[in-house]
Amino acid sequence: MSIPPVTEYALVADNPRFDSDIERVLDAAFGPGRFSKVSERVREFAALDRELSRVALKGCEVVGCCRIYRVLIGATPALFLGPLAVSPATQGAGLGQDLVGASLRACEASGVGAVIVVGQPRMFAPFGFTEVPRDRIAMPGPVEARRFQWRALRDGGLDGLAGAVRAPRAAS
Ligand SMILES: CC(C)(COP(=O)(O)OP(=O)(O)OC[C@H]1O[C@@H](n2cnc3c(N)ncnc32)[C@H](O)[C@@H]1OP(=O)(O)O)[C@@H](O)C(=O)NCCC(=O)NCCS
Repeated sequence: MSIPPVTEYALVADNPRFDSDIERVLDAAFGPGRFSKVSERVREFAALDRELSRVALKGCEVVGCCRIYRVLIGATPALFLGPLAVSPATQGAGLGQDLVGASLRACEASGVGAVIVVGQPRMFAPFGFTEVPRDRIAMPGPVEARRFQWRALRDGGLDGLAGAVRAPRAAS
């Protein structure tokens, strides 16, 4: 008789009640350079989508997050993935991959065509992310080309996608 695996973590939608704990996880995972990243410039104008974001809970403790923001690329709605972080004590056990996978499943159901990320290719290539072709999408600051990646969320989701990453239109 096989023993079912113990589910150690719960992955849940983001919620304001997690905010201060998420800040602690981000500080611990990224260290003091955290706010100098170009992704932070995007997050200053992008709109956090808590329904598409995922938070990892071990019991009541927040141990990781994968946040998803809404942006425009040119005039086209798109999603921006990150920050992705796992508490240092919990890293290396597959939780980062689980968070990305769960967030992407939610993104695919959102109807938006594409998601972009600035991150390690070895983290995101297994999920189908590829390097954004040079000069196709303008970020609000310099990014290392190999780290700037995109992925379609539906057939044709990357077709014609180009322009500056901008604030999303306000919900009416
Ligand atoms: C990156 C991070 C979220 C990965 O979380 P994790 O739970 O340790 O990752 P997993 O155990 O699911 O590992 C998944 C894969 O991610 C990659 N990976 C692991 N740690 C990584 C790191 N620090 N940077 C980039 N990729 C990493 C590996 O390819 C790993 O695959 P492997 O099992 O074949 O080695 C975590 O290390 C972290 O919070 N790092 C600091 C914050 C950060 O750099 N975030 C941005 C990531 S691009």
